[in-house]
Amino acid sequence: MRAFQKLSPLGFACILLLAGCRQDMHDQPRFKPLAKSDFYPDLRSARPPVEGTVARGQLQEDSYSYSGKIGSNPGDYMPFPVTEEVLERGHERFDIYCSPCHSRLGDGRGMIVQRGFRAPPSYHTERLRNAPLGYFFDVMTHGFGAMPGYASQIPPRDRWAIVAYIRALQLSQHATLSDVPAGENIPSAPPVFRGDPGSGATLPELMPAERAGGEETR
Ligand code: HEC
Repeated sequence: MRAFQKLSPLGFACILLLAGCRQDMHDQPRFKPLAKSDFYPDLRSARPPVEGTVARGQLQEDSYSYSGKIGSNPGDYMPFPVTEEVLERGHERFDIYCSPCHSRLGDGRGMIVQRGFRAPPSYHTERLRNAPLGYFFDVMTHGFGAMPGYASQIPPRDRWAIVAYIRALQLSQHATLSDVPAGENIPSAPPVFRGDPGSGATLPELMPAERAGGEETR
């Protein structure tokens, strides 16, 4: 009893703490990843996920957003509203991922094609102008002929942004006077192309004099 009284409160606390120390927590029964186990008939310790398991963020409940298809046909609407921000994002992603082959104008004469890769069709044909939006999404997702798929590099929302931008590109190359909103100014001289078409400098640029004119022409 006397010895016990001599213990400082700190020492007493230490004894209590050490009493809880056992190796069990360190040596838990477990399998190394993919190790063999005869507990299960298939001898695999790693168990397959329960049927119907969905990884976080991969529910894909709205299947149109991830396939561009309704049943087995491409649909013709965007799964979210197209804002200026969406178009700008699509523009940026298109220039990064698609323009090397399709050119920034979409005429199919990008730099890689000029170096010998198979030339894609221009987007500015009757057939592709009439192609539904979901078709472009599907081509990007799964590839098309010589063109690889981009699903692993471009997430679905960005693929849709590119779809919206391609449609804008198509409209921009197929506009008529009746598309100009009433009261808008039309530049008197047509835009001039600088450089080699398809060299990456294929977007029309206004002459410096017109730019100085200050009218917003887009
Ligand atoms: C490496 C070059 C390359 C890149 C990069 C590329 N494409 Fe293509 N694309 C092609 C070729 C080549 C074809 C024609 C394939 C064929 O007919 O075999 C094609 C065809 C297409 C078509 C037309 C399909 C049809 O019905 O004729 C679309 C639409 C298209 N690409 C969209 C895209 C989009 C969007 C991107 C960017 C995400 C992209 N491509 C990136 C090479 C490319």
